[in-house]
Amino acid sequence: MAQDTLSQEQVIRRGMDELVVDTTSVSWVDGQQGRLYYRGFRIEDLAKSASFEEVAYLLLCGELPAGQQLQGFSWKLRQLSHTPEKTIRIIQELPRHTAPLAALQTALAALGCTDPKPKYSEEETLLGLALRIIAQTPIILAATYRLHQGNSILPARDDLTHAQNFLYMLSGRVPDEEAARAMEIALIIQMDHGFNSSTFTARAVASTLTNMYAATSAAVGALSGPLHGGASEEVVQMLADIEEWGDPKSYLDNLFASGGKVMGMGHRVYKQTDPRAVIFEKLLAQLTRNEKSPKDIQTLGYVAGYAREHFAARNQPIHVNVDFWSGAVYRRLGIQPVLFPAIFAAARIVGWCAHIIELRQNNRLYRPLSSYTGPVDLKFVPLAERGK
Ligand code: ACO
Repeated sequence: MAQDTLSQEQVIRRGMDELVVDTTSVSWVDGQQGRLYYRGFRIEDLAKSASFEEVAYLLLCGELPAGQQLQGFSWKLRQLSHTPEKTIRIIQELPRHTAPLAALQTALAALGCTDPKPKYSEEETLLGLALRIIAQTPIILAATYRLHQGNSILPARDDLTHAQNFLYMLSGRVPDEEAARAMEIALIIQMDHGFNSSTFTARAVASTLTNMYAATSAAVGALSGPLHGGASEEVVQMLADIEEWGDPKSYLDNLFASGGKVMGMGHRVYKQTDPRAVIFEKLLAQLTRNEKSPKDIQTLGYVAGYAREHFAARNQPIHVNVDFWSGAVYRRLGIQPVLFPAIFAAARIVGWCAHIIELRQNNRLYRPLSSYTGPVDLKFVPLAERGK
């Protein structure tokens, strides 16, 4: 075996735990206090008072827009909301059961092929590319979702906001004010989150100076795993499993005894409750104010409380994360679980683009080292002599 290749100062940080790889001014996750800031603003304030378009502008351009800037930005987003026929055909050719995130990953790569100048790197053009990608994402997701549900694809409407359009293209109905605002808040609070796995992926890929389509497409791939963006759908599965099991307490006892994980709980950075989970829980309370003892919320409440006691008794800082309540909110908006992880992408696409723009201003190729543990200097045996 090879000798230890690490010098004394080098330490392996598996999973990049605690490793700081770059600076950013896009967002800050304060894990100790359980806070999340976008360009210095608390997400609670943005979720209370800002629109999707305002927060997207903030992340991409670095400051809140003035009235005319916001108008121009929103107008451009709408202008770019027409998906090329070729990309639509590619989505239509995918198998009916294709997960929306897999379709988005494919379609973003395909969009890059239909853009005649995807490689421009001037700041102005990067922003234009970002807007195109942000505008196209909900259209691609809604198209895939509708095909998945056996419905025909609907084009975006020019008279609706980004959040209204997303719900409209999913359901075919213009949403009421409360539903549109709930979707808008969900998109705002999931737009960015420090160097999470998918954002790191976007930055690592973009650092090779490839185009924005390639970097965002790769980020979607990272988001699609159950340890990252797929957990909201897994929470729904957990609810179904508990229902089948019959009793949440013994389900959880069994899960803990077998070393399983409660989906929608735990986080690498937060040592407190995830502030996005708090916002989702409040949103859910608002949306369900007229429902009489909804079963899913009762079960989720029980799981959160029982798991909290379990983890506290073991001194483990594990709390509910953004995915714990989000699915219950989306169900109240009439959305099926297959789309839950994709809503995350419709939000996070803004953060990915903002990070790519930021990185391009002072690019450095992401290229970490590894500690090799295999053999060296083996004697090559010709094929004919092997296995004798
Ligand atoms: N349920 C039970 N135990 C847990 C959970 C959980 N949800 N999360 C962490 N733990 C335990 C682990 O079993 C481990 O215990 P051990 O030290 O006794 O082996 C310890 O806490 C550390 O867990 P890791 O998985 O090593 O910690 P990591 O920082 O990698 O975990 C992660 C972060 C992946 C999010 C994890 O908490 C998890 O798998 N949660 C469930 C999936 C989920 O909700 N993902 C969404 C995250 S938010 C987002 O990305 C949008």
